[in-house]
Amino acid sequence: MRIRKAAASISADIDGVDLADLDSTEFRDIYGAWLESSVLRFRDQELTKDELQGFSERFGPLEYAPMGNITVEQRASVPNPFVTNISNIIENGRPIGGLGSGEANWHTDMSYIERPPTASILIAVEVPEVGGDTEYCDMNAAFESLPIGLSDRARTLSIKHDAAHDSVGNLRRGFDHSASPVEAPGCVHPMVRRHEETGRDALFLGRRQDAYIPQMDLDKSEALLDEIWDYVALEGHSWVQQWRKGDVVMWDNRSVMHRRMSFRASIRRLMHRTQVRPVL
Ligand SMILES: [Fe+2]
Repeated sequence: MRIRKAAASISADIDGVDLADLDSTEFRDIYGAWLESSVLRFRDQELTKDELQGFSERFGPLEYAPMGNITVEQRASVPNPFVTNISNIIENGRPIGGLGSGEANWHTDMSYIERPPTASILIAVEVPEVGGDTEYCDMNAAFESLPIGLSDRARTLSIKHDAAHDSVGNLRRGFDHSASPVEAPGCVHPMVRRHEETGRDALFLGRRQDAYIPQMDLDKSEALLDEIWDYVALEGHSWVQQWRKGDVVMWDNRSVMHRRMSFRASIRRLMHRTQVRPVL
């Protein structure tokens, strides 16, 4: 197994390994690389849903996806309830997965729940030749880029993370649009979070849509959030994944945000995804 990390990059490529058949030393090294680099890419993997779930479970207990083709009632009866389809494919008049083909803005997966996932893992099953790239940005670097007065202030504040919309801005099942971010449903988290394992501080913004700083009036909250978001994904603080079939990418949801470029709706794209719950 070989780990290749580009200098100053938030990502590393790992090759010479079969994720369906990892020994404990390989797993330990992958775990360490994940904490160090935040985003790991493994090319040319072939993983069944069982194998993807098995690999993911080595990082901790798995989290159900918030949407997609599996309802809460169906979870008990499907073979891999923790593996979700992210897809624009329609079969028999129904989408086989979530998020369609549109652009997904910068976000942290499921930041609106009490204990957001530590890791998200995707494998590319079918991908378009062009479009649908995923970009990752370094939230440790974003925090470190804040001017001192702003970073001191950020440490004292928290953000309410909207639960009503998914990452492409659509309403989730069972939610309504909120009259304003003040009313939006979702959990409140500190604006700056210390990583439980690396000890590094990161900005924890979740997503911009319907975010709200509860200690403030809405207009002040909007202005301060806009100011802080200006430090997200500065030059040199992000990395773009251009998907090939068989790519597995896993990331540390505590230290990076991600976004997805749109792609042509007529071209099939299918990813399988898992998410890992925090154990600490
Ligand atoms: Fe996401």
